[in-house]
Amino acid sequence: MISRKIKKHSLILSRRIKEGSELSRMSEQNSPELGIILSAFEQVKKAKYLASDKAAFDRCENYRKELLQNQEEITYEIFNSDHRATVQDICAKAASSSSWCRFLYFIVKSIAQPAVLEIGTNVGMSGSYILEAMPDFSDSKFRTMEGLPQLCELSRKQFAVIKRKVDCKVIQGLYENTFPDVLQEDIQFNALFIDGNHQKEPTLHYFKELKKKAANPAIFIFDDINWSEGMQEAWMQIRTDPEVNYSIDLYEQGIVIIDKSDQNRNVDFELHLSY
Ligand SMILES: C[S@@+](CC[C@H](N)C(=O)[O-])C[C@H]1O[C@@H](n2cnc3c(N)ncnc32)[C@H](O)[C@@H]1O
Repeated sequence: MISRKIKKHSLILSRRIKEGSELSRMSEQNSPELGIILSAFEQVKKAKYLASDKAAFDRCENYRKELLQNQEEITYEIFNSDHRATVQDICAKAASSSSWCRFLYFIVKSIAQPAVLEIGTNVGMSGSYILEAMPDFSDSKFRTMEGLPQLCELSRKQFAVIKRKVDCKVIQGLYENTFPDVLQEDIQFNALFIDGNHQKEPTLHYFKELKKKAANPAIFIFDDINWSEGMQEAWMQIRTDPEVNYSIDLYEQGIVIIDKSDQNRNVDFELHLSY
């Protein structure tokens, strides 16, 4: 346990030391999508935000504060479990941190006509940032998937408060049932955030199917790539996939870019955004 922690922190330290050279290596590539990741990373690191971005972050973080006081009990029957947890506990344990959400926000904001898929709505924390980042027109699309019905309801309410003209749907149900329907929908996603069901085989299955479904180019973001050995193996397969042009390993998250018009393959970068 202690040796794993030491290994993690020395790895993160070495990434911080070589951050400047990694960023300049990224900027030397002629990839607009890599440029999006680079710019999102730098904006979050420097924390110099426009007033409109700051206002959006404040709205999202006010929602987080509400969630952290919400004692509604959530039941896990849909997973055949008698587990129960309060919204405040779920938010504290499973929702993305504000740094990660800001990073996502800037990625989505840089895409002219975003079509975003999120696997793992949870309480709608990352989803709120995604929606806030979207241009206010109905050609923008957002699909987010969640099994727990009460969390779907909570997220729908929050997304309605954000009031975007975006074509937005919270898809309720177990992924085993809903994923095939998402694949049938006539949307070519250009940003895909895989943050639910953190197991090796499902993660690889989502990637294999979504590669066929995605727009060209597309940005895939995988959360919790170091969560377990299985997730580490999944990430290794994803980043070395022959269709992948660029991968950015951020320790907690892994990003791959697929752009069929780009000749580069499997060019890897390593950074660290925040704990
Ligand atoms: C880590 S949370 C998502 C966090 C959220 N994206 C954020 O950043 O705030 C993962 C969610 O996936 C849902 N989930 C996991 N496995 C699932 C499955 N097989 N079917 C449906 N939902 C599932 C869980 O209920 C949980 O709310």
